[in-house]
Amino acid sequence: MKASNSIARFPVIKVKGVPLMSHIAYNWDSIWAFRPDPSDLLIATYPKAGTTWTQEIIDLLLHNGDAEACKRAPTPVRSPFLEIYSPPPIPSGLELLSKMDPPRLIKTHLPFQLVPPAFWENKCKTIYVARNAKDNLVSYYYFDCMNQTQPEPGPWEGYIHKFMRGELSWGSWYEHVKGYWLEREKRNILYLFYEDMKENPRREVERIMKYLDLSVSEDVINHIVELTSFKIMKENPMTNYSCVPSPVFNHSISPFMRKGEVGDWKNHFTPEQSKMFDDDYATQMKDVNIPFRTLI
Ligand code: A3P
Repeated sequence: MKASNSIARFPVIKVKGVPLMSHIAYNWDSIWAFRPDPSDLLIATYPKAGTTWTQEIIDLLLHNGDAEACKRAPTPVRSPFLEIYSPPPIPSGLELLSKMDPPRLIKTHLPFQLVPPAFWENKCKTIYVARNAKDNLVSYYYFDCMNQTQPEPGPWEGYIHKFMRGELSWGSWYEHVKGYWLEREKRNILYLFYEDMKENPRREVERIMKYLDLSVSEDVINHIVELTSFKIMKENPMTNYSCVPSPVFNHSISPFMRKGEVGDWKNHFTPEQSKMFDDDYATQMKDVNIPFRTLI
């Protein structure tokens, strides 16, 4: 089947048990068969965990902090989204990748078990960014309201339950963060936390730099921290997703660069919802000890 290019809220279809937007499911065979170059970098996240922020940090590190070089194109063109086939006007991830020379910075939201196996065969460096479940959920809710291609979010209360049941696009947050966590040593995955990046961005930029075997000066690191602050990225047309126009991304419903904070969940969860969520969280996460923080 061919993917549709029309703007619509795609339903989800399960691929190996994981709900993915239908255009991804229809093109699954070509996504699964993708063969990266060993020099390609993978940035993997559950949606809304800080992907764009990390993509910008990496691109700046690769360009020695050259802000102009990193304004050569919007984020999804500089760093293609592996599995995405929409929305227009951005071409599909695979199409963009086919026209780029390695090393490429490739974005995916696929859970670990759905990442094309050639990434692991070729030992591609992989950076995973995780964000605490409650803030991740809030951010995803607003994104699903503004992105007219994502499945309908429905009311907030019901959305919390869909998140807990793993019914949103790209599936269960719980399985996602666990999947990469359990493989991080074997696959040499750098596992980062959004909250750590907020708390001490300089430290996290340095961690990324070392993982990528790069070396930039102290001044350049400081410059990268400044350029990747929420405020600057919100104003930067190459990072704020103004490249995806309405009606696909309706920034008047909620801007892509929304708040960029830790703890915004407190403004959305009622005390009852928070307790119900925490009780379920304890059950779903009982088999791992991933040091998430919901406040810093
Ligand atoms: P909020 O909706 O909580 O504001 P992704 O890039 O994975 O889609 O994640 C988007 C989330 O990361 C949004 O969260 C967005 O505001 C936040 N974000 C993007 N750039 C950021 C930055 N430089 N600093 C902090 N948060 C950032």
